Amino acid sequence: MRVIAVANQKGGCGKTTTATNLAAALARLEKRVLLVDNDPQGHATLAFGYRERDFTLSTYDLYLTTDVLVEDAFLEIEPGLHLVPAGVELSAVEQVLAREPEKELRLRSSLQRSSMPYDYVLIDCPPSVGLLTFNALLVSSEVIIPVDPSGYSLQAVRKLKETLVVLRDKKGHDVVPHVLISDFDTRPRFCHTLIEELQALYGDELLDTMIHHTVRFKEAAGSGQPVVRYDAGSRGALDFRNLASELTAQETDLTVTTLDHWVAMLHGPRVTAESVCFVADFPRARSVCVTGGFCAWSAKGVAMLRRSDGLWECEIALTEGDHEYRYIVDGAWLPDPHNDAVVANEFGGANSLITVP
Ligand SMILES: Nc1ncnc2c1ncn2[C@@H]1O[C@H](COP(=O)(O)OP(=O)(O)O)[C@@H](O)[C@H]1O
Ligand SMILES: [Mg+2]
Repeated sequence: MRVIAVANQKGGCGKTTTATNLAAALARLEKRVLLVDNDPQGHATLAFGYRERDFTLSTYDLYLTTDVLVEDAFLEIEPGLHLVPAGVELSAVEQVLAREPEKELRLRSSLQRSSMPYDYVLIDCPPSVGLLTFNALLVSSEVIIPVDPSGYSLQAVRKLKETLVVLRDKKGHDVVPHVLISDFDTRPRFCHTLIEELQALYGDELLDTMIHHTVRFKEAAGSGQPVVRYDAGSRGALDFRNLASELTAQETDLTVTTLDHWVAMLHGPRVTAESVCFVADFPRARSVCVTGGFCAWSAKGVAMLRRSDGLWECEIALTEGDHEYRYIVDGAWLPDPHNDAVVANEFGGANSLITVP
């Protein structure tokens, strides 16, 4: 799974156009896609024809409650293309979470708790680098930065790249940037100059595909459809088909880094030669332990320690074969949310399963 934020603090540079049309173009390539509208303006929601009266759960609920999961909140645009919508209440998140610990990890922990059967998760960000954008970047392994040909664009890309450096230095979280030229008009000379500057500054980070200026995007959004559906033969549809192909062509190169990223971020047990290392992400927990057959299902379990990156970890030497386990998080017994291998237990619930080869 690739999680890609679409971000740039500059308004009107093509973030929502990119997020919505790329999501639809990836779905046409039979990718399973989730689009998260992470902007209180709700433009991505509107672009698919939804109004606030059409939904009750939204991205706001993913931030604010632990009971609401993506699978409760998404709207199905078409098979394989889901949208978590947003409305104006999302603008309250910053204030409501102001005093909460780890408020910048809300979206990440919410997405991790979901079963997420997606190949791509795209997150449409607001035009600012505040809490909402931080949340999006901290769950993403990549970010697409749309750049429209205007005087402020280079400055905006520089700002966002500075933010990525902060995330790497302060949070140990790496996000790979892709710069996308959007709303490109072939006629004015300064557009060509801008491309040359971007090539010189960002080289490999600049995507080969450019999105050309065409009125079809406005028309398509106005009719509540992505351009690949509104006018499949248009220049805009072609551009987004090309962008989707360019991204999917990178999949082979990215497999290793993306997997590492997710394993490090969220996957539970890792078997090493000597032991099993349990890693779990329970950002709001005060105490976490792991229990299982290896400690006779003791309610004390084996205590996990909180690492500096916020994940809980412990290492246990286990013998060869299958081992069932559960986490005890602030007294509540849970299967490992990051491990798909489970077996039914006698209490009608599930135990997580790890096999030591
Ligand atoms: N390639 C393009 N050609 C023509 N209009 C565009 C293009 N990209 C974006 N627009 C228009 O510009 C406006 C702002 O784009 P949008 O994607 O909403 O920007 P952002 O999400 O960054 O604020 C919208 O009305 C959109 O339809
Ligand atoms: Mg937008």
